Amino acid sequence: MSFLTSSNHPTVAEGDTVMIYIDYSTILAAQIDLSAKQSVIHTKKGPVSLKNLIGHRYGTKLTCKSGYVQILQPTPELWTKTLPFRTQILYLPDISMIVMHLDLKPGSLVGESGTGSGSLSHAIARTVAPSGHLYTFDYHDVRVQQARKEVVQHGLEDIITVQLADVYENGYGTLENHLDAVMLDLPMPWLAIPHAKKALKKGGSRVGSFSPCIEQVQRTCEELKKHGFSDLVTLECLMRPLEVKVMNMNSWQPPEVRAAGVDGDRRPKTPFSQISFSTAIIPKEVPGHSGFLTFASLF
Ligand SMILES: C[S@@+](CC[C@H](N)C(=O)[O-])C[C@H]1O[C@@H](n2cnc3c(N)ncnc32)[C@H](O)[C@@H]1O
Repeated sequence: MSFLTSSNHPTVAEGDTVMIYIDYSTILAAQIDLSAKQSVIHTKKGPVSLKNLIGHRYGTKLTCKSGYVQILQPTPELWTKTLPFRTQILYLPDISMIVMHLDLKPGSLVGESGTGSGSLSHAIARTVAPSGHLYTFDYHDVRVQQARKEVVQHGLEDIITVQLADVYENGYGTLENHLDAVMLDLPMPWLAIPHAKKALKKGGSRVGSFSPCIEQVQRTCEELKKHGFSDLVTLECLMRPLEVKVMNMNSWQPPEVRAAGVDGDRRPKTPFSQISFSTAIIPKEVPGHSGFLTFASLF
């Protein structure tokens, strides 16, 4: 099944990548390949036979030895949570910022380097489909081979082209004045800026760069300005989840309130009474820094 399928009640078929929901913190991706050696996945809920999943509707709960697992349709979000790591990857908060700041939409033509583990690539592909295209480049042969294999397994071959190239040296191949956006997730993004400029359309196209260190950001921004990019913005995406909960607290009662009592003679014996109220708790720590995102426009 393609990651782009929008059918309401699809069933699991051979060749599908399925998401097996074990519990809130554990989801596994599995390839339904009857010729492969691994035909059973061992989970904390018990063994799951991949062959037995075929024909079940996505969303089905399957009873196991200790509870149940649920079979979910693949999505870019679930893939980011389950993919086999080959490199550091981009996670959902940064990915959502990238999709928005690069102004990606169906029909967009996008360049990406490096491909890495393909986490960002899947989100871009879903956004630009059905008429857009992602050209993703990496200079690591094994990663390119693996990414190509997954692109086919996930039914994305019409949307993603994976190319083996060193973008510092060779840029974006034959792409010239062609792309609406370029995203860089490279150790030295400043070396790719002149090539990105060549590949981008003039007249409001966008470039983005992800870097863990501020020194990388500084060099990238200098290079962007040198090559005539404008509207530079650098941001960091930090999640601050708030917990809304009911709190109980002792509240001091002034003497006149105590004298009036509550229910006739059931007067409070202490100057305090308990009150309950809803509040939002701010976390003591915010989950750590992933990297800085820099965006700019080319006119
Ligand atoms: C951090 S990973 C990218 C992860 C990716 N954004 C993801 O979400 O899965 C960086 C990748 O850039 C590739 N890379 C580094 N230098 C490169 C270059 N000069 N040309 C092409 N790819 C390069 C590496 O091989 C690596 O796979």
